[in-house]
Amino acid sequence: MNSTRAQPITDRAGTDLAPLFRPLKLGALSLPNRFVMSPMTRQHSPDGVPGENVAGYYRRRAEAGVGLIVTEGIGVDQPAAIGAGSMGEDNIPLLHGDAALAGWRRVTDDVHAAGGLIVPQLWHMGVIRIPGTGPVPDAPSLRPSGIWGPRDKAMMPPPYLEAMAEPTAPMSEEDIADVIAGFARSAANAKAVGFDGIAIHGAHGYLLDSFLWAATNHRADRWGGDIAGRTRLAAEVIRAIRQALGPELPIFYRWSQWKLHDYDAANATSPEEMEAHLAPLAEAGVDCFDISTRVFSKPGFPGSNLTLAGWAKKLTGKTVMAVGGVGLSKDLQTSFGGGTVAIDNLGEVASRVEAGEFDLIAVGRSLLVDPRWVEKARAGEPFEPFSLAAYGGLS
Ligand SMILES: Cc1cc2nc3c(=O)[nH]c(=O)nc-3n(C[C@H](O)[C@H](O)[C@H](O)COP(=O)(O)O)c2cc1C
Repeated sequence: MNSTRAQPITDRAGTDLAPLFRPLKLGALSLPNRFVMSPMTRQHSPDGVPGENVAGYYRRRAEAGVGLIVTEGIGVDQPAAIGAGSMGEDNIPLLHGDAALAGWRRVTDDVHAAGGLIVPQLWHMGVIRIPGTGPVPDAPSLRPSGIWGPRDKAMMPPPYLEAMAEPTAPMSEEDIADVIAGFARSAANAKAVGFDGIAIHGAHGYLLDSFLWAATNHRADRWGGDIAGRTRLAAEVIRAIRQALGPELPIFYRWSQWKLHDYDAANATSPEEMEAHLAPLAEAGVDCFDISTRVFSKPGFPGSNLTLAGWAKKLTGKTVMAVGGVGLSKDLQTSFGGGTVAIDNLGEVASRVEAGEFDLIAVGRSLLVDPRWVEKARAGEPFEPFSLAAYGGLS
């Protein structure tokens, strides 16, 4: 058990945690510390509308010192954006329509009143959405090349994989234009209801990542072919969002190697390929790369201890956020098997921030279980053990 942290802030091994409590400027925002709430799907917004319970859930994290909140994935204003995905998702929020926008206005007002900052994660499920589900069941699911992707390493239940087996028509130029316009409308709506920037879900095998990944993008036109072609849609989405937002509010882009199809998949097999992926996105207007890994401290490529987040910073010079396994003994996937206990690995996070490897640390499950987690980190109080029960509720 920790004893209460006296000043200066250190972990149990005496490592200085002060770097994690230093402010950071990002565009028009002044983040009070380096802790970001990682986006986590909650499924508590019937008809796409977040209610008072959702506002309370985010407000509690803001009140307890989270520097920046990234919301759960929110369906982009495009008919096929969401539906049941690989986890049978339902009650996912939207960012268009009067009722949903009024709901989000309450969320941003509550978070701001508590002294917090909040950005919405814009989400298009793309290949992962089960056709015939979601708010517009008739909308054809959008896939770059009509295929779901490789199935040999997929861990989803067989009924899900069967539902995805039938190929669809590859996305047309009109579909692509519709997606770009949908992201831009959602970004404009986000600004209108008081969000502090935009987070783009560009990872995990969902639509934008399915263009980046060679295994799901077999196109020979300008939206595929080489890395420059495969990154074009993400870059166009970023440009359209930048135009809708204006120059000041920051854009976050979540990028991962891993996919829901295959945890060992990779968009980039070398730092050179990673640079080819990230440079066009940086150039299009990304302010912060949110590098999604399951264990933040794992080396990004063989031959170096630098983390994937560290590589993103080295290759782009942008602000970078790391994520994965902070405060917990097991990563997201293995924690489903139970036995995940609380650990204090903040010393390692702080050392890497101090060394300039990355700038921000996103915290997922630890903040799901305990809204006061950042306050406890500052005070040196013991963390809560992880519980799968937290997945269902909105505490
Ligand atoms: C319940 C739950 C829902 C999640 N939903 C999303 C999501 O909507 N968008 C996203 O990019 N990542 C999502 N994630 C991944 C988290 O943002 C985070 O990257 C992951 O949990 C690793 O961080 P952690 O080890 O601190 O939990 C989700 C994770 C959990 C536990």
